[in-house]
Order: sequence, then structure tokens, then C-alpha cells
Amino acid sequence: MKRQRRLRKTDGLRSMVRETRLSMRDFIYPIFVIEGENIKNEIPSMPGVFHFSIDKLEDEIKEIVELGIKSVLLFGVTKSKDWCGSSGFDDEGIVQQAVREIKRINKDVNVITDVCMCEYTDHGHCGILDNDGYVNNDKTLAFLAKIALSHAKAGADMVAPSDMMDGRIGHIRKVLDENGFVNTGIMAYSAKFASNFYGPFRDAAESAPSFGDRKSYQMDPSNYREAILECEYDIEEGADIIMVKPALSYLDVIKGAKDRFNVPVAAYNVSGEYSMLKLAVENGLLNEDAIYEAVMSIKRAGADIIITYFAKDMAKYIDKW
Ligand code: PBG
Ligand code: ZN
Repeated sequence: MKRQRRLRKTDGLRSMVRETRLSMRDFIYPIFVIEGENIKNEIPSMPGVFHFSIDKLEDEIKEIVELGIKSVLLFGVTKSKDWCGSSGFDDEGIVQQAVREIKRINKDVNVITDVCMCEYTDHGHCGILDNDGYVNNDKTLAFLAKIALSHAKAGADMVAPSDMMDGRIGHIRKVLDENGFVNTGIMAYSAKFASNFYGPFRDAAESAPSFGDRKSYQMDPSNYREAILECEYDIEEGADIIMVKPALSYLDVIKGAKDRFNVPVAAYNVSGEYSMLKLAVENGLLNEDAIYEAVMSIKRAGADIIITYFAKDMAKYIDKW
């Protein structure tokens, strides 16, 4: 008889033969920065995740660095919105200020910024609208590049375009290079699906579209082959890291991208995936170790980098397991 259970007998043996290990260095922790002062408010749809004003970032950054997290992904929350998202490329904008402040607090933290327009446009779509409400691809590119350039100027190590316009990686790369930011990286939200799991985030970022949905630019959840093509184009255009988003319902796409491409693969364990599990644990429906199991599954599928609101929660598992 083949006795597979021999290696499962004790904690020590199980830990010795464990095939996949998580490290705090695997994680990117998303941070929502909001205008105003003295604000650290819990986001109602995302228990344990907060809005921070710039002056409250110091304690937060110190706490996450202490836990071993090295990278953050910044999102700006603002009241100043217009047709072309001009607060997004204001050098004194909320994200630009946050980048400078985090680098002042600890220059070794990897500061990555989300580049999109939905947080800054009055209509909440991720680009410039035509008269009929269609998001115009080519007009949007110039604005995305302005946002990315302004983040780079503020000192971001890497920009992360999340808009899903065609050709944006190539255009952003070109504009960064022309302005001397040859070493500012691009983490492309390459295979970003039109997902219902972004719901809690849109409350947090005040970025829900005021009409319609994002299906004409984000991907159809049923398409694997197209996801691989999106990754391929982004790499050709100059992406340093590709991303699959969401993570838990798209583990096959993560695995496919990992097997196929020779750049790091990131996976975004999104807000809905977070809140769903967090609320189930808080309400006693699931043991909290379910969090470890879910995050582990993302790494096992092949993600080199995991963007997750659970990053802090993971600290207690990493040494133990
Ligand atoms: C902006 C953006 C979204 C997320 C990251 N960047 C929302 C969206 O596309 O509607 C989702 C993140 C999450 O749900 O945690 N385009
Ligand atoms: Zn957007």
C-alpha cells in the first residue's frame, strides 16, 4: 500500500514537506488616501480597511513595515471630479502628496500607484466619454499618461494602470521614457475582468460609474484565451509585471499566465473577495484559517505577487505555517 498519510502525521512533517510557502514579501497592501486631516475611518463595506488622510499615514506605514510588508498600492479618494479627471494629474493631488509622504517616512517602501480615471471623473468611468457615453479609447490614453507621469514625478517606484484601454501600456511607457523616467516600472492590470467582486472597492474609492457598467472595456469573465492575449500585448508594450484580477475566481488565468510568460505575475485578491471572507469569519460562519487557505491558493496557482487587503492578517500565519 502507498502510505501518503505518513508525511501528514505531525505538524513538523507537514511543515517539512509543504510545497508552497507564503512570505510577507509576497504581498502588496492597498491603501486608500483621502483628502482632509486627522482621518482614519473604517470603510463600512470593508471591515478592517481604512481611509487615511495624509497626516495619518505615518503610523500606518510604520505598522506595515514592522509586519514585514514592503510594498503598497495607493488609491486616491477625492471630491474634486470633472469630465477629464484633472485632479488625477495634479502634482498636488492626493496620490502625489501621499507618494511623497510615504517616501519621506520610509524611502525603502515600494510605492506603486493605481493609474485610472474613475476616481477623478464626475461620471465615474475609467476614461474620456464620447457624446453617446462610450468610453473613447484613444482620447483616454493621453490623460492616463498624464496621471502616470505625475505619479512618477512624485516619486512612485511603479505605476499600475487599471483602466483596460487598448495600447495604454505602450503609450505610458513612451511618455515616461520621454520625460526621463526610464526606471519607473509598470505593473499592468492586464487581465482585468468586469467583475461584481469590485463592489466594496467602489464604495471605498467613490468610483462607481454613474451610468452603465464597465463591460465595454473590462473583460468578459468567461474568457481565458483573451486574458492570455491581453497579457501578451501588455508585455510587448513594455509591462514589467502583468496582473490578473480578481484572483480567487480566476486561478486558472493566473496559472496560465505563469506557465506562459517570463515576467512576474501579480494577482489582485479584490475587495469583494476580502469582504466576503472577512464577514463570514466575523459572523462565525468560517474559521479564520480560511483566509490563509484562500491566499495560499493564489500563490499555489502561480502568483509571484499578491495584492491583498489580508496582508496584515497573514502575518500571524507566516511564521506558524
Ligand atoms: C479602478 C480600480 C478598481 C479596482 C482597482 N482599481 C475598480 C474598478 O475597476 O471598478 C478594484 C479593486 C478591488 O475591488 O479591490 N479602475
Ligand atoms: Zn477605473
